Amino acid sequence: MKTKVGIIGGGPSGLLLSQLLDLQGIDNVVLERRSREYVLGRIRAGVLEHGFAKLMREAKCGERMDKEGEIHDGIYIAYDGDKKRVDLNSLTGGNSVIVYGQTELTRDLYDAREKMGGKVIHGVENVQLHDITSDNPSLTFEKEGQSEKIECEYIIGADGFHGVSRKSIPRDKIKEYERVYPFGWLGVLSRTKPVSKELIYARHERGFALCSLRSQVLSRYYVQVSLEDSVDDWSDERFWKELKTRLPEDVAAELITGDSIEKSIAPLRSFVAEPMRYGNMFLAGDAAHIVPPTGARGLNSAASDIYYLYHAMVDHYKKGDDTGLDNYSKKALARVWKGQRFSWWMTMLLHRFPQSSGFDNRLQDTDLDYLFSSEAALTSLAENYVGLPF
Ligand code: APR
Ligand code: PHB
Repeated sequence: MKTKVGIIGGGPSGLLLSQLLDLQGIDNVVLERRSREYVLGRIRAGVLEHGFAKLMREAKCGERMDKEGEIHDGIYIAYDGDKKRVDLNSLTGGNSVIVYGQTELTRDLYDAREKMGGKVIHGVENVQLHDITSDNPSLTFEKEGQSEKIECEYIIGADGFHGVSRKSIPRDKIKEYERVYPFGWLGVLSRTKPVSKELIYARHERGFALCSLRSQVLSRYYVQVSLEDSVDDWSDERFWKELKTRLPEDVAAELITGDSIEKSIAPLRSFVAEPMRYGNMFLAGDAAHIVPPTGARGLNSAASDIYYLYHAMVDHYKKGDDTGLDNYSKKALARVWKGQRFSWWMTMLLHRFPQSSGFDNRLQDTDLDYLFSSEAALTSLAENYVGLPF
């Protein structure tokens, strides 16, 4: 098989790039290890920047997002028994975010690929990258016991944090930066009316909590838990009790509980690999960087990679201009690090750290106090939360 762009990974990054390139007539193939059902079974965050939404519309995948997604003009930060609103809209001169689940977004991308007859191959095993630094890179893989080869001009590593692309770069050609946090998030999805129309990020002495939602009948809640905990330690009853304890009393009183329909624990990690290019292979999304979910940056950081890569590929194939490809890593990383900084800061601000001293805790108090006493500080939070320009 022959194609122009071989994309490894059928998550949001790989699918969105595939769709955008196809619309420009740039032939590509997506290789995905899992089945479509498996990919769509993953529950992940759901806060989209408008820059991302615009890209989805450009990819002709924005219809359902625009119909079913909710525009959120603000978020709440709760601490010391009270909740305070961050008016994203007024602080950013009219910007906001769209709440639309990543699962739904991925479904829309799969549907669009299918409609266009996009080449997405599921169930591939043992994907290997060859001759990455040559002008004729290729991919080999196995499917149902058969060995296959795809010759391409470029390879995109959009295969997530545990993928094979980043690992194919020689150790001395890549530098990895990492911070692992000493706790995880226990998330529960329930078919209940959300306690608040807007997200509530709560800091409490027992740990962080988040009230989020997928729609007005589907809630997503989280509590910070120890890394030693397993889902089995957390009955629904224990979860709801803990969540209520960490929320202001008036919010807890309004909280509608119900059976969990999904429950999982995710560790928190900050990670960046540099550079995001090796030869004719480009890394994008979680394959190159991950953030703790606190600032809702994960998917949005992937979106800016795709935006830069898409434009760079179009310039290459339509105008013979390689400036975008040559500058991709530098440009993408500049924005990636800003997302890293913000996610790290939100995480430090709102979580209880097991080893933290009285001094650390007082600094956290002061950071929150300063935040809500300074329009400049609040504006900084707001402009990062709605997304810095691409
Ligand atoms: N071969 C083929 N496919 C692979 C391989 C491999 N060796 N390794 C991983 N994959 C697939 C995974 O099964 C997954 O579907 O690559 C895909 C990567 O998707 P994601 O992990 O979702 O990463 P990405 O598309 O970059 O999405 C950005 O934003 O909110 C965040 O972390 C969240 O997934 C989200 C991310
Ligand atoms: C979610 O809805 O899953 C969610 C929302 C905001 C975050 C993290 C997760 O910061």
